[in-house]
Amino acid sequence: MKSSSVFWESSEKTQRWIASNMGRSSPFLLPFLCISLFFTVFLVYHQSPFRSISDQNVPTTQPQIDPDCDLFKGHWVPDKRGSLYTNSSCSTIPASKNCIKHGRSDRYFLFWRWKPDGCDLPRFNPKAFLSMVRGKKMSFIGDSVARNHMESLLCLLSMEETPRDIYKDGEDRNRIWYFPSHDFTLSTSWTKFLVAGQERVDSNKTGTGLFDLDLAKMDEGWSKGLPNTDISIVSAAHWFFRPIIIHRGDETLGCIYCNLPNMTHISPDEGFKLVYSAVFKHISECKNCKEDLVTVLRTISPSHFENGTWDTGGACSRTSPFGENQIDLQSNEMKIRTSQIQQLEGVTKGDYKGKKFAVLDVTKVMLMRPDGHPNGHWGNKWMKGYNDCVHWCLPGPIDAWNEFLMAVIRQLR
Ligand SMILES: *[C@@H]1O[C@H](CO)[C@@H](O)[C@H](O)[C@H]1NC(C)=O
Ligand SMILES: *[C@@H]1O[C@H](CO)[C@@H](O)[C@H](O)[C@H]1NC(C)=O
Ligand SMILES: *[C@@H]1O[C@H](CO)[C@@H](O)[C@H](O)[C@H]1NC(C)=O
Ligand SMILES: *[C@@H]1O[C@H](CO)[C@@H](O)[C@H](O)[C@H]1NC(C)=O
Repeated sequence: MKSSSVFWESSEKTQRWIASNMGRSSPFLLPFLCISLFFTVFLVYHQSPFRSISDQNVPTTQPQIDPDCDLFKGHWVPDKRGSLYTNSSCSTIPASKNCIKHGRSDRYFLFWRWKPDGCDLPRFNPKAFLSMVRGKKMSFIGDSVARNHMESLLCLLSMEETPRDIYKDGEDRNRIWYFPSHDFTLSTSWTKFLVAGQERVDSNKTGTGLFDLDLAKMDEGWSKGLPNTDISIVSAAHWFFRPIIIHRGDETLGCIYCNLPNMTHISPDEGFKLVYSAVFKHISECKNCKEDLVTVLRTISPSHFENGTWDTGGACSRTSPFGENQIDLQSNEMKIRTSQIQQLEGVTKGDYKGKKFAVLDVTKVMLMRPDGHPNGHWGNKWMKGYNDCVHWCLPGPIDAWNEFLMAVIRQLR
């Protein structure tokens, strides 16, 4: 998992560091084939943040879901309707997720839908979604998988209204789209660790692959925009599987994957705990944020390298989902997912002044979709031979995350 997660956004130097240290710091180098059931949607709320829009004309085709139904406990069932969009109807699919364009020849992976045990998850309805979020600002906060999620939503919403591309930074890491007819703003705010983090550099100002995080400070990239946000979808996971020293202000708490003799060892799920509790505390205590700010935790998205790691020829060439008996409920991803949710629960037990929190618990759902990744079909000219088993094809099973998002927002109303 450590290895599965690094290659995408890391500098070459980091990759070398990771590669050369893989042998001695590798508790997470498991082949991930696995897992099963134990899903909980948990929603914490007082009153609807969407009261102001609840009277509007939401098409009745997007039914209210039984609030007692656990949306994330279920299984994938065949669905001959296939995906709602294609690579020709959605012009914003990034090349690296356009698997079909890059030669993926099987299509079976598009013909499944998620079926919760106790209810039905409605198919995504762009019209209903856009009317629910009229006048709102939604922000995806996290790493490249958060971006992947936003790109899926963009394709789904584009069926109803063509968005305007209103902002893109130099590296295309932060992006803002605007849907004028619905006064809806959709943005991604790229952050590796959510909290402030920096890579150590050597005397030549070259990255060393070792990071310092400060739990006492949030990454400004997203936190400065938070007061303006109505709905934030928070995630970030794939940068944590590398050497990271965790600090809280002046105090050094320890290190993930360092193996330094005088440093406390912190396990990745412990690291997630520390970071996520700091982040949720920050959000719940944010004074200049909107009173009805909705925060959705999207739990860790699993990768599926088989027969090796990302840099040793690992691949994800399956063409159909796993059943529950084929996944490992004790996997590290499941531990991290539980630790993420516990931190949110910890914060929401306290006094959080009307802010709303919810969980988009995709971990187990996606452990069952080893067939959803680009694998070799991501147009990787500069990394030929490396497979992407971290991100998800568009269209593909990641589109279900927006069906969950829609349902979770509906349940908050
Ligand atoms: C869509 O996929 C087809 C392969 O089915 C490919 O030939 C085409 O170039 C793709 N179009 C776009 C716009 O990506
Ligand atoms: C810095 O660069 C110089 C010249 O390229 C090289 O000799 C030296 O080894 C580098 N130092 C480090 C710490 O990488
Ligand atoms: C660990 O030891 C090194 C070298 O002796 C020192 O520079 C560093 O500050 C020490 N770190 C801690 C956390 O004590
Ligand atoms: C892993 O290797 C086995 C044996 O060579 C092969 O049958 C299987 O298809 C491979 N799995 C993947 C996902 O490539």
